[in-house]
Amino acid sequence: MTVAKRTFDAVIVGAGGAGLRAALQLSEAGLKTAVLTKVFPTRSHTVAAQGGVAASLGNSTEDNWHWHMYDTVKGSDWLGDQDAIEFMCRKANEVVVELEHYGMPFDRTDNGKIYQRPFGGHSQNYGQSPVSRSCAAADRTGHAMLHALYQRNVRANTQFFVEWIALDLIRDQDGDVVGVTALELETGEVSIFHSKATIFATGGAGRIFYSSTNAFINTGDGVGMAARAGIPLEDMEFWQFHPTGVAGAGVLITEGVRGEGGILRNAAGERFMERYAPNLKDLASRDVVSRSMVTEINEGRGCGPDKDHVLLDITHLSPETIMKRLPGIREISIQFAGVDPIKAPIPVVPTCHYQMGGIPTNYKGQVVVPKDGEPNTPVVGFYAAGECACASVHGANRLGTNSLLDLLVFGKSAGESVVDDIQSGNLSLKPLPADAADASLARISRLENQTGGESVAEVGQAMRRSMQKHAGVFRFDNLLKEGVTAILDVAERSKRTEIKDKSKVWNTARMEALELDNLIEVAKATMISAEARKESRGAHVRDDAPDTAEFPNGRNDKEWLKHTLWYREGNRLDYKPVTMKPLSHDVEPIALAKRTY
Ligand code: FUM
Repeated sequence: MTVAKRTFDAVIVGAGGAGLRAALQLSEAGLKTAVLTKVFPTRSHTVAAQGGVAASLGNSTEDNWHWHMYDTVKGSDWLGDQDAIEFMCRKANEVVVELEHYGMPFDRTDNGKIYQRPFGGHSQNYGQSPVSRSCAAADRTGHAMLHALYQRNVRANTQFFVEWIALDLIRDQDGDVVGVTALELETGEVSIFHSKATIFATGGAGRIFYSSTNAFINTGDGVGMAARAGIPLEDMEFWQFHPTGVAGAGVLITEGVRGEGGILRNAAGERFMERYAPNLKDLASRDVVSRSMVTEINEGRGCGPDKDHVLLDITHLSPETIMKRLPGIREISIQFAGVDPIKAPIPVVPTCHYQMGGIPTNYKGQVVVPKDGEPNTPVVGFYAAGECACASVHGANRLGTNSLLDLLVFGKSAGESVVDDIQSGNLSLKPLPADAADASLARISRLENQTGGESVAEVGQAMRRSMQKHAGVFRFDNLLKEGVTAILDVAERSKRTEIKDKSKVWNTARMEALELDNLIEVAKATMISAEARKESRGAHVRDDAPDTAEFPNGRNDKEWLKHTLWYREGNRLDYKPVTMKPLSHDVEPIALAKRTY
C-alpha cells in the first residue's frame, strides 16, 4: 500500500467542541491547521450536550469563581488538581462571553443577559444553596455551541478532513510526537499527517459500557492511540454514570430537567433524594444521585413491573416552561419512553456518560508523563483537550456542565500553547521516522489476511457486557477481580478479529474493527486501575470500603490521594501526586473534608 504524506503546522484529531476551539486558536494565528474527523464536525458528540456550560456570570443568582472552584474540587472528591481547577473556573466567564460574541444563541433572561439554570453539585457560598451557573441554549447547548465554533473555523480557513479515522500516533527516536497516520473512509487509503504539533480532541469512550448515553463514534480513539504509543493513561477507574438515562434506551435526559425543578420519585411517589442529600436534594452531585437511585431499586422501591427504574417528574411545571426550556427532552421522552412529560413522569436509570480519566495533561493542554523523577514532563509536540484528556479538573467525579467548560477552556489553552511553542521556535518540523506508518499498515494487513477469526460485534459485545457487570455504579472486590480476567480474555480475542468485507471504499466493518482496538485499551485500563484502587472515592465506590469515621465515605486519603497511571506495556500501574496547591495566591487550597450534599 502506498502512503501519501501531508504536512501541516498542526494536526488536530477530533472536531467536537475541544477540537474546534483549539483549531480556531491556531487558524486565527495563521498556522496551517488540519482537523481530522470521523463525522461532519457538527455531528460530533458535543452535539448531544444538553443542559449547559458552567460559568459564574451571576446573571440570575449571585456567584463567583471561588464558589465554582470549591464545588469542583469537592465534586472531584479532592482528586482534581487544584491548579487546573482554578485555571478553568477563572477562565469560564471569558470563554462563554467569547462564544456569545461568535454568535452562540444562548437563551436570555428578561433583561437580555445569558440565561443560567441550576445544576447538580453547583452551589452558592461553599455548598449552602443551589446556584444558577449553567449557561444554556434551551436543552440543546452543545448543538448550538458546535455550530457557532464550526462557522467561526470556516471563517478562519481551518482545513477539515471529514470522514477520516486517525490510526496511530507517530513518535520519533526521542519520543517526540511528529504526527499521526489516518485512513480516509472514502478511499480506504492510509496517509501520514506530518506536523510540528498534534492535538488529540477525540472525546470519550463510553461505548465500552453496555448502557451508555454516548454516540457510536465514542470509541476512545485518542486514548487508544496514546496507550499504544507508550503514553500512560490517568485515573481511568473513574467513570460517570448520569442519573437520568431513559430506562431501556440509555438516551440522555439532561440534569437541566432537575435544574428547572424536576423531582426524582420512587414507586411510592416519595421524593427519595431528601433522605440522601437533605441540602441539595435532586441537585446533589451526579455520583451521589446515581447511587441513591440504584439503592432505591436494589431495595425494592423501583418502579414498573420489574421495579427496575425510578421516575423523573416534571408534571408540576407549566407546559409553557417545558416547551420553552426543555423542548428536546419532551421529544426524546415521547420517542424513547412513550411518555409526554407534561402529563406523566419519565422512567429513568443511571447510564454511563463520561470518562473522568484520560491522556494526562497539564492546564496548558500539554501531554505530560513521568520522566527522570519528574511526574509531569511534557511530551514534545503532543497536546490533548476535552474528554479524552485528564487535566485533571474532574478528579473522581465531574460536575454537570463542567464538561462543556473543560473543552472550551482547555481547547483554547492547548491551542494557545501550540501557537506559543511554534511562534517562539520551541517546536519545529522534525523528520519522520522511516517506519512512521508501519504499525498502522500492520493493523490493516492483519485484518486483510485474518481467516477463521472472531466477529468484531461479538467481541465488542463481550467487552460491553463485562464492563457493565464488573465495573458499574457499585463495585465489588470479587467482581473487579473476575472483571480483570474477563477483559484480558476479551483483549486476547480482539487480536484475532476477522472482517468478511475486504473492500476499500467506505468499509465500515474495517472501521469498527479498528475502533475496537481503541475500546479494548480503554476497557483494560479501566478494569485494572479500578481493581487496584482499594478505597471509595467519587464515582468509584467499593462495597469493601464503606463509610467509617476513619474513612469518610470510604475514602482513604492516607494511601489513595494519588492519581493512577496505567501503562499498556505489561498492564503496569504507577501513581503520581495530586496537585493540592492552586495556581495563584488569590485562593487558599481547598482542604480535605467529607463530601456531603
Ligand atoms: O445533564 C446534562 O445536560 C449533561 C451535562 C453534562 O454532562 O455536563
